[in-house]
Amino acid sequence: MPVGLLALGTYVPSKVLTNEDLASFLDTSDEWITSRTGIKERRIAEINEFAYDLAVKAVEGLLARHGEEALEGVDQVVVATNAPDAFFPNTAALVQNHFGLNAAAYDLLAGCPGWLYALAQATGQVQMGLARKVLVIGAEVLSKITDWRDRSTAVLFGDGAGAAIVGPVPEGFGFRSFVLGADGSGGGALHMGALASSLPGGVRTGRTIYMNGREVFKFAVRVMDTATVEAIEKAGLKKEDISLFVPHQANLRIVDAARARLGLDWERVIVNLHKYGNTSTASIPIALKEALEAGKVHSGDHLLFVSFGAGLTWAAAVHTWYEA
Ligand code: UT7
Repeated sequence: MPVGLLALGTYVPSKVLTNEDLASFLDTSDEWITSRTGIKERRIAEINEFAYDLAVKAVEGLLARHGEEALEGVDQVVVATNAPDAFFPNTAALVQNHFGLNAAAYDLLAGCPGWLYALAQATGQVQMGLARKVLVIGAEVLSKITDWRDRSTAVLFGDGAGAAIVGPVPEGFGFRSFVLGADGSGGGALHMGALASSLPGGVRTGRTIYMNGREVFKFAVRVMDTATVEAIEKAGLKKEDISLFVPHQANLRIVDAARARLGLDWERVIVNLHKYGNTSTASIPIALKEALEAGKVHSGDHLLFVSFGAGLTWAAAVHTWYEA
């Protein structure tokens, strides 16, 4: 049974933090951040706004666009996040309760590719008949786990959320391939602690994001290339068949390397990281929604998604767009 994206909604907090703002309290500059990352500004959640609040607003955005009936038949809710409100209850259960859904609920922790991982799980569940429709959310308040004294990470991340409904689509549409992967040997390169104060390999963890940027950069360029090529092949397509590339919005240089390897011109790549920074699991849905609003996505278009992040993990998918 073909399964794909049926509806999409997003939310970003209204508070904007510019590179100039960062330079007022960190030893950094707009010139450094722009040239090394492409990021100009990012959104920051209010003090009392958490992943659950952003997730609910993203779903409300979806309902405003597609109507209340979009939630009919949703019997699972998944929230991919790296900054949940609590260990438990899971954030998805809070969302399930908010919308009064008769649905199972779980959170998914897989670094930035979490939303793509969750789409893969949802697609499999619908194909197996374990769910009719799944509400798949990526919601992040990374500003709350950022060390604001660390210029090597504080300039990169932003807050936001994206929500999609996954369900049956007509023949010839929907997800054509998924590629999911992990290499835990690189876990020390990007981490934040929880209960244990150290990880295998003697990595000492703290309560804010730690990253070895150079190591993650090299990993990212490598897996963006291999995962996209594999996803296109698994989909039975060629690079030139890709209508739109929607990559994880982490760093313009990483996006550019992947774009060049795929032989795509910028017209076929969605980039909005200059406005939002890296919103982790929310970055692809936010970028996709912008592409839809800009009229860059049409029924039958082959979309290529790819992401990488903490774990270290990666994911890619090809989806043939269906417009009802
Ligand atoms: O979703 C996954 C999340 N992770 C990523 O996507 C991160 C991938 N990595 C990157 O995007 C890049 O590695 C960074 C943007 C994080 C860093 O860029 P880079 O070109 O790899 O810089 P670097 O880490 O090699 O640092 C170069 C210099 C260093 O100074 P020295 O040692 O050359 O004197 C840093 O201390 O830049 C310095 N630096 C900064 N200077 C001004 C690091 N951060 C800053 C800063 N402002 N914010």
